[in-house]
Amino acid sequence: MKLLVAIASEQVRAAVVRGLQGQPDIESVIEVGDSEAAVQQAEQAVPDVILMGVDLKPADGFETVRNIVARVPGVSAVLVAVNPAPADFRRALQVGARDLLEVPVEKKELLAALRQAAEVSRGKRSTLQEVAAQLVSRQETKIAKRIVVFSTKGGTGKTFVATNLAAGLAQTGARVALLDLDLQFGDAAIALGLVPERTIYDLVQAYTDYDLTLLEEFMVKHPAGFSVLPAPLYPDEAERIMTSDVQVVLDVIQTGFDYVIVDTPPFFEERVLMALDWADHVLLVAGLDIPSVKHLKTVFRTMGLMAYPEEKLLIIMNRADSKVGLEVSEVEKHLGRRVAATLSSSVEVPRALNSGELLLLVKPNTKVARELAQLVKLFGGPDHPGTERPTDSGTGLARLLGRKNDRNEGSGSNGSQ
Ligand SMILES: Nc1ncnc2c1ncn2[C@@H]1O[C@H](COP(=O)(O)OP(=O)(O)OP(=O)(O)O)[C@@H](O)[C@H]1O
Ligand SMILES: [Mg+2]
Repeated sequence: MKLLVAIASEQVRAAVVRGLQGQPDIESVIEVGDSEAAVQQAEQAVPDVILMGVDLKPADGFETVRNIVARVPGVSAVLVAVNPAPADFRRALQVGARDLLEVPVEKKELLAALRQAAEVSRGKRSTLQEVAAQLVSRQETKIAKRIVVFSTKGGTGKTFVATNLAAGLAQTGARVALLDLDLQFGDAAIALGLVPERTIYDLVQAYTDYDLTLLEEFMVKHPAGFSVLPAPLYPDEAERIMTSDVQVVLDVIQTGFDYVIVDTPPFFEERVLMALDWADHVLLVAGLDIPSVKHLKTVFRTMGLMAYPEEKLLIIMNRADSKVGLEVSEVEKHLGRRVAATLSSSVEVPRALNSGELLLLVKPNTKVARELAQLVKLFGGPDHPGTERPTDSGTGLARLLGRKNDRNEGSGSNGSQ
């Protein structure tokens, strides 16, 4: 044990230290004569046990023990006093000392008290180490909030929503990744005005096993502060990205960000199903028209087969102010579900998309940008809802396909619907 002896009288201190000499389990002894040096040495040397006289000065032994116990994790203290009053024993325990010994104290008794205190200190410290290790490992496996933007109908505004959501969340100071899983025709990078040199294709061709640091080398940083893993540059490359590849990308990317937003193609296919399964929330982007609502119904039916929890699926009604004789409330009634957010139609949307700009950032005062900000608020900021993370293997893709996800199985390039 590492011992700190804090006793005011030099004579008594020297006698105590002499008495402890030659004990194999006492590794080192530091001697101090006042309370200030005691606190300073305790913080610096981090002893296992402190042996302290109650008549220390300027602060007495009780106060000094209280002070040190609060500052030095896992330390144990033993007080010594000449003629202690009964109340002193209570006080010793109250300030966090292990024991109060009456001077003169027998060597055997003193050693036993110090050893017991050292034992307690070891116990406290290993618990602290375990807690610290758990905190570190939890940080290493930190899992992002995972949001997949999907619809089975093309052109509903998935890419518009995904890109602006990524930017809006990044604005809150969160670390955000945007993954373009529209592997054949993904245009998120174009919508963001980025010219990627490397894509998900290059990543999975080059590596089967990689960590976040390597994955990030294949991402492009958007000036708004989020990172993008772009879709392949050429449609034929999409075929060579296997389901297992997508699984690894999803596994790794979620460890490094607060949010991962995934853009998708307008159909179900195994690689998309995998992302839908993995997601905490699926944003179903729909338009205010009959075909869109029909598509939504089919999606709900398919996802019903996957037994996803209700709160996982959120309807985003895009172009919700279109004058097509259909009201949002009618759609809600028809589907028996609430629309989570609405976005207006605006000529500013294609304008921004075509010039590679984010509407939310370049035209923040337009109606549709304010609606986008509301959508961002569903997930980011101080009052965002908690994330329900389905862990039951009886839901999702496994259930739909009637088997476990197969990490080694490839996937065709096109959808099953
Ligand atoms: N609220 C809106 N107001 C006006 N135009 C919009 C709106 N939302 C999307 N658009 C336009 O609709 C077109 C399709 O949008 P977007 O590319 O985001 O859809 P998508 O669902 O990703 O399409 P795809 O299925 O082809 O990937 C774009 O030209 C976009 O500018
Ligand atoms: Mg798109």
